[in-house]
Amino acid sequence: GTTLKAAAAEKGRYFGAAVATGKLSDGQYVGILNREFNSVVAENEMKWDATEPQQGRFTYTGGDRLVSHARANGMSVRGHALLWHAQQPGWAQNMSGSALRNAAINHVTQVATHFRGQIHSWDVVNEAFADGGSGARRDSNLQRTGNDWIEAAFRAARAADPGAKLCYNDYNTDGINAKSTGIYNMVRDFKARGVPIDCVGFQSHLGTSLAGDYQANLQRFADLGVDVQITELDVMTGPNQANIYAAVTRACLAVARCTGVTVWGVRDSDSWRGSDDALLFDRSGNKKAAYNAVLDTL
Ligand code: XIL
Repeated sequence: GTTLKAAAAEKGRYFGAAVATGKLSDGQYVGILNREFNSVVAENEMKWDATEPQQGRFTYTGGDRLVSHARANGMSVRGHALLWHAQQPGWAQNMSGSALRNAAINHVTQVATHFRGQIHSWDVVNEAFADGGSGARRDSNLQRTGNDWIEAAFRAARAADPGAKLCYNDYNTDGINAKSTGIYNMVRDFKARGVPIDCVGFQSHLGTSLAGDYQANLQRFADLGVDVQITELDVMTGPNQANIYAAVTRACLAVARCTGVTVWGVRDSDSWRGSDDALLFDRSGNKKAAYNAVLDTL
């Protein structure tokens, strides 16, 4: 293949990008997006603060715009993210206990119902584990509603959109470490108890080196009976950038249940990482060495 999407499709994978819908009027941006990618995810527009700015008042303008762009251009859509400790609307930040639990589950139900049939994979819960060596859940208002909040969210998402793959998504899970093992144990428990979970997303916001056991970590999750996806890939600029992009791509291809890769933006100028220049296209929209490394690996 001569594009990321064509080369990935030959290997049975998708290749996606995070999109800021405000940029869908930028011709250069849309040109690259439509040429190279066959999956999209909203960088912000499907998050809780964007979709339920006031309790019970849902706004889907940005998300719907992305879904219609995807439909018109033959792209699939990842949904991101139904519940997360960050980017909550102010009203939810100020809630706790059963009121927050009920509001959170209602949010999952309403948003997953609105987009029912349009989303190939939902990040049902994002970033619920702590960094560091504890392997424990992250403290958050959602966690304080009870340890079963994650499984309650997955059950609500399944009921609302039975056709979507339901993912748990997190970062700093790029090798076998205490955090990824905590998540691994949760997924194993969910599978054992019949809690509906289909996939695990590895954000993969990377620095200047990659864990040597990156692929082995993906494989141990796949061996639990879930798909794995690289969901928010970006890599610090520098002499290793292209090699790291290639290594992540190679790892996904080597794991049969790794179904696709999403990069967290299109051009370096679109990236949340600013001067890290962490993406595949430069600020003028030109292909970088990292692009060629990914394409050659696919
Ligand atoms: C980031 C967006 O890229 C920014 O535009 C926003 O200001 C903050 O969130 N992990 C995630 C993503 O799951 O939702 C985050 O996206 C990046 C880290």
